[in-house]
Amino acid sequence: MKKTKTGPNAVGHNSVLSAVTTALFDMFSNKGQLDPLADNQRIDGKVCLVTGANSGLGKSVAVQLAKRGGHVIMACRSGIPAAGEDVKRLSGSDNVEMLSVDLSDLDSVSAFCNTLRDRNICIDIAIMNAGLMPLNSRPSAQGYELMFAVHFLANRLMLHRWYQDGVIKPATSVDGSPNSTPRVIFVSSEAHQSSEPINFSKFGEYIEFGIKDGLRHYGTSKLHLSTFSNELSRRLNPEYNDEYSNEQNNEKSNESSPVNIAIHSLCPGPIASNIARESPGFLKPILNPIMSLFFNSPDKAAAPVMLLACAENMEKRTSVYLHMMREKPCSELASNPSNGKQLWESSQRLLAKYLDSEADGSESDSPEGKSTEDTQEKTAQKKNNLSTPA
Ligand SMILES: NC(=O)c1ccc[n+]([C@@H]2O[C@H](COP(=O)([O-])OP(=O)(O)OC[C@H]3O[C@@H](n4cnc5c(N)ncnc54)[C@H](OP(=O)(O)O)[C@@H]3O)[C@@H](O)[C@H]2O)c1
Repeated sequence: MKKTKTGPNAVGHNSVLSAVTTALFDMFSNKGQLDPLADNQRIDGKVCLVTGANSGLGKSVAVQLAKRGGHVIMACRSGIPAAGEDVKRLSGSDNVEMLSVDLSDLDSVSAFCNTLRDRNICIDIAIMNAGLMPLNSRPSAQGYELMFAVHFLANRLMLHRWYQDGVIKPATSVDGSPNSTPRVIFVSSEAHQSSEPINFSKFGEYIEFGIKDGLRHYGTSKLHLSTFSNELSRRLNPEYNDEYSNEQNNEKSNESSPVNIAIHSLCPGPIASNIARESPGFLKPILNPIMSLFFNSPDKAAAPVMLLACAENMEKRTSVYLHMMREKPCSELASNPSNGKQLWESSQRLLAKYLDSEADGSESDSPEGKSTEDTQEKTAQKKNNLSTPA
C-alpha cells in the first residue's frame, strides 16, 4: 500500500476518496494479510488485563483470551458484574474477574494501580482498548479533554505505575531470573495518520469542539497514543532495532537484542460496536444498519489484537503496528523520536503528582505480605524507571 501522508482532511489520507479506497482495499483484499492466530495457540495461566472490556472489541477480546486459557481481568467503569458473567458464559471459563476504573479520572486510575500493586498482580498481556468518540468536547475529572484523558493520559499513567510497581516486569527481571516477555497492545486508530502535529506549546490545554470537529480531535488523541506507544517501546527496549521492513518480512525478529517488554499497536478497522453511541438520534436509523452490514463484528475485529497478544513471533518484536491484519508503518509523526521525547516530557509534567506511587501516602516499598526480594526488585526497577528523560 502507498504510504499515507499527514493531513487533516480524511482518516489517514489527504482526500476522502483515498481514505475510502484504502479502507475498502484493506477490508476486502487478501494481499499482504497476515494469517490469523492459530486455533491451538494457548496462553494458559497468563494474566491478561483488558481495559474497556464490557463492550464491543474489548469484550470479544476478553472472551477469546479466556477461551485460550488466560486469567482475564476486565478493567471497566460499567457493566460490573454483568459483563464479566457474560464473558465467563461465552468463553466457558471461570477465570475471569472485573475491576472498576474510570479512565477519565486520574484519581480513579491511581486507585486502580494501587489495587493491582497491593494484590501483587503481575500482568503478562495488557490490552489498552478503552476508547470513545464523544459528540462534543467535555472535560475529564481533572479538566482535560475527555479523549486526551482516556486515550492517552490514563495509559501513560498506568504504564508508568505498573512498571514502577512491578505489576509489569521486563522479560529478564532485575534479579536475573528469566520470565516470559510481557506484551502491551494499544488499540489506536488509522485516524492517527491524518492528525495535525501535536501542538506542544498548548499541550494538555482544554479545547472546545463540536460535532463537526469530533473526528479530527479523535485522530489527534490517537496520535498522542500511537506516539506514546512508540516512545514507550524505545525506552523499554533501548537495544532493539527493528526498522519497519517494506518487504513485509513479518517473521523478522532481532534475536541479538532481546525485547524486554513487547509494545505493539493497531487499528482494528471499522467495528459494529457501541463507539457511535453519542451519534444524534436522527442519524441512528441510517448509521446502525450501515454499521451492522458493512463493519466487522467485534469478534472478527479482535483478530489483530489476538495476533499481537498471543502469537509467538510477536513476543520477539516490538513496535509492530497492524491495520486490521496488515502490518504497516505508523504515521511519521507517531514514529518520530523527537516527538516521542517531547510527548513523554510534557506529559510527565502534567502527571507529576500521580507518577510516584508513594505520593499517595501508600507504602509501595514495604507493603505487608511482600517479600524482601519483591521489594528489592521493585526498588531496582524504580532506579531504572521511566521518569528519566532519554
Ligand atoms: N468502532 C470502530 O469502528 C473503531 C475503529 C477504530 C478504532 N476503534 C477503537 O477500538 C477501541 C474499542 O472501541 P469499540 O469500537 O469496541 O467501542 P465501544 O463498544 O464503545 O467500547 C469502548 C469501551 O471503552 C470503555 N470506556 C470509554 N471510556 C471509558 C472510561 N472513562 N473509563 C473506562 N472505560 C471507558 C467503554 O466503557 P463504557 O461502556 O462504560 O462506556 C467501553 O467498554 C477504542 O479504543 C476505539 O477507539 C474503534
